[in-house]
Amino acid sequence: MILESPLDLIFRDLFYHLRAFAGSHDVYLKLEGFNITGSIKVKTAIALVEDLEQRGIARPNETVIVESSSGNLGIALSLVCAIKGYRFICVTDPNANRANIKGMELYGAKVIVVEDRDPAGGFLGSRLKTIEQILQSEPNAFWLNQYANLANKNVHAEQTANEIAREFDKVDWVFVGTGTTGTLTGISERLRHEFPRIKVVAVEPVGSVTFGGAPGKRNIPGIGTSVRPKLADLANPDKVVAVNEEKTVEACLSFVRDYHLLVGGSTGTVLAAVKQLASEFTLGDTIVAISADLGERYLDTIYERAWVENVIVPEGKTPV
Ligand SMILES: Cc1ncc(COP(=O)(O)O)c(C=O)c1O
Repeated sequence: MILESPLDLIFRDLFYHLRAFAGSHDVYLKLEGFNITGSIKVKTAIALVEDLEQRGIARPNETVIVESSSGNLGIALSLVCAIKGYRFICVTDPNANRANIKGMELYGAKVIVVEDRDPAGGFLGSRLKTIEQILQSEPNAFWLNQYANLANKNVHAEQTANEIAREFDKVDWVFVGTGTTGTLTGISERLRHEFPRIKVVAVEPVGSVTFGGAPGKRNIPGIGTSVRPKLADLANPDKVVAVNEEKTVEACLSFVRDYHLLVGGSTGTVLAAVKQLASEFTLGDTIVAISADLGERYLDTIYERAWVENVIVPEGKTPV
């Protein structure tokens, strides 16, 4: 395989067959963590920048692209902007992992880490405020706005969903972790058309407000929001499962032990949700779940006992 660009490193047909994962049911885990920059978000990054180009907004060496990201979109955009010649500013927060921040800087991005939590206990409100300030002070700045940009949804309808549809004759369940809901919305739009009886499950952490849950502190990046994203208006999942972060950690650890793959936080959350709904599956159902990234970047957090004990507070206990 000869590559002309790192952006050719997107693996569209990797599905890990998890035998008897949920009782007697097999699950197919769509692996996106082997893509360049380590996650599903490289597809989103390419789509958002190409959309800007198609709309005639982006000019190399002049346009400053700005985005809020918990890390994975940030590092993907850093690479895409470096290749295409755009300056890039990423506004992120303390939940972003160190490797992603370092990677963004190495690809030439400016990284701003907001420190203040917003009234819903998250950082998204603070990140969006910072973006407003940048837009006011930098005349060539343009905000991609992954939370409302239809290109974020369309790329998953055209690519991720079709990658699933190409692999399976039928899909009965699809489980998707949600942040902006771009992946969920795009996948469900396209797969509902292909498999009308499919059940689409949105997975989020407890404390996320996207699907009407009570706001609360969350510590695992990538999924959940403290401000409902506009794209969620188009989502319409059949079911929403909220998983607490303790369960996510447990799911990540047991997956490494039993299935020998170090997966990221949103994958653990999705896998916990699959187990939670197992009693609703029928024998012979095809169950697909999305694994957005791998676990190496979470070695200091999810896979570090001291971090878990200090940061993830069991329900009913008071924070230290
Ligand atoms: C690890 C991980 N999982 C899931 C998601 C959620 O994807 P989306 O923003 O399309 O809802 C993200 C988004 O950044 C992510 O980084």
